[in-house]
Amino acid sequence: MHKIIIAVDGYSSCGKSTTAKGVAAQLGYAYIDTGAMYRAVTLYFHQNHVAITNPKAVAKALENIHIVFQWNPATSQNETYLNGLNVESEIRKMYIANQVSQVSAISEVRRAMVAQQQRMAKARGVVMDGRDIGTVVFPDAELKVFMTAQPQIRAERRQTELLAKGDALDLDEILDNIRKRDHIDTTRQDSPLRQADDALLIDTSYMTLDGQIEKLIELARATLALKTHHAPASH
Ligand code: DC
Repeated sequence: MHKIIIAVDGYSSCGKSTTAKGVAAQLGYAYIDTGAMYRAVTLYFHQNHVAITNPKAVAKALENIHIVFQWNPATSQNETYLNGLNVESEIRKMYIANQVSQVSAISEVRRAMVAQQQRMAKARGVVMDGRDIGTVVFPDAELKVFMTAQPQIRAERRQTELLAKGDALDLDEILDNIRKRDHIDTTRQDSPLRQADDALLIDTSYMTLDGQIEKLIELARATLALKTHHAPASH
């Protein structure tokens, strides 16, 4: 059975991770949340007062950062561990969201994360979500989608998500964070967020999560069928 890499890129709060997770579960693929890795680096920098303008300090910090994902049967999801500690809920907090774009714009940080992401998906059979998966991490991914949605709708989704975790935040504050992140993510010099030439654009503004998963499964099956008919068996 052929296995492919599915790259899910796009703006934050478009439903990328929930969709990618659902698709991975249905296909029996691994799901890798690359945003969680940048968030974990941001948490480490925050906790250890790493000056992001100091390249030596950044390089040294990166040597001491070990990120792994571990399956938690209780929550039925992969959770993020930073140097052996479960940081899954901490990295989702607003103070991390407010700093992560600055940290993920640093080239040394990106180089280290991209290398690890490429190692993780060597055997294919992976759904990976992020900002540069189709453009930089896996330019040869068999299926690439680029998700977008209206900022106001993304902010409302994010607010509901945060509220479910007990974080009651103003819609304007969230919208402001989303706009700032969009700006930094799309204008940074190293691997800016952009749609790969061969990625399919999906606007999720008026789609349900189930609808998004269904759409991707449809695309994945079509891609797999094409591969099975046209390519020699993979090893
Ligand atoms: O997907 P997320 O919101 O958890 O991502 C957090 C931040 O990490 C996002 O603002 C940009 C950055 N990021 C990135 O630069 N490259 C990736 N592949 C994934 C995330």
